[in-house]
Amino acid sequence: MISKCLFPAAGYGTRFLPATKAMPKEMLPIVSKPLIQYGVEEALSANIKTMAIVTGRGKRAIEDHFDISYELEQQIKGSSKESYLTEIRSLIQQCTFSYTRQIEMKGLGHAILSGETLIGKEPFAVILADDLCDNPQGESVLAQMRKVYERYRCSVVAIEEVAMSEVYKYGVISGKEIDSGIFMVDNMVEKPKEEEAPSNLAVIGRYILTPDIFDILRQTPPGKNGEIQITDALLEQCKKGMVLAYKFQGKRYDCGSIDGFVEATNDFYRKYH
Ligand code: G1P
Repeated sequence: MISKCLFPAAGYGTRFLPATKAMPKEMLPIVSKPLIQYGVEEALSANIKTMAIVTGRGKRAIEDHFDISYELEQQIKGSSKESYLTEIRSLIQQCTFSYTRQIEMKGLGHAILSGETLIGKEPFAVILADDLCDNPQGESVLAQMRKVYERYRCSVVAIEEVAMSEVYKYGVISGKEIDSGIFMVDNMVEKPKEEEAPSNLAVIGRYILTPDIFDILRQTPPGKNGEIQITDALLEQCKKGMVLAYKFQGKRYDCGSIDGFVEATNDFYRKYH
């Protein structure tokens, strides 16, 4: 049973400076909704109601967003503007939010390990909010992954094919396709050079992890860029047991980059506004 979703949200968002100087990058809006709210909606669509958010300094706006703003509610009560708050109110009612702080920025693996206190000993989902996923024709990416997890009961990462010239931005896997779109991972490399990449199957910011990952992360030395990498811990997990990679249905926008952010903004404006 997966009941919790971890959101690593401590990063600085340097690519969006100066916008992210005093504002968390997870609060950047696509049209009128912050990135992290899309992430929470996706978790909820996979029937996950406990949101565990790993924050850092300067991230208090995230906590305020998932809380009631009494002053604002009073101001717009009875006006047509009230409807703008319907979605976020409903999220706050349906979900619980808990927070912990990552004190030092030592990489995604370290951020996930910082969340252990909120997760405990159960399988959990991870959403990187700057990867925005959309699948209007069917189930959300996390809901699809949940089904894969329920069938195989091991860690699952979401993957997509990227151009070889792009592999240096991602964790890249190789593996044997055991079912349509489901690969048993046999290698995983964090941000490889083109010539060192095991394939062009790139991991995107959606994971389902079994809790033994925490012990592995504790033993994982710093890797690429001197950071503790979830990719390295997952490779260790796949040597000990099994890790699956799932080619999801839908479209993913890299909203951690200006290009992806603008593309998502345009698409979402056209489709949903
Ligand atoms: C992180 C992971 C990488 C993964 C990517 C997906 O990198 O380290 O393995 O492919 O997220 O977005 P980041 O984009 O935080 O540098």
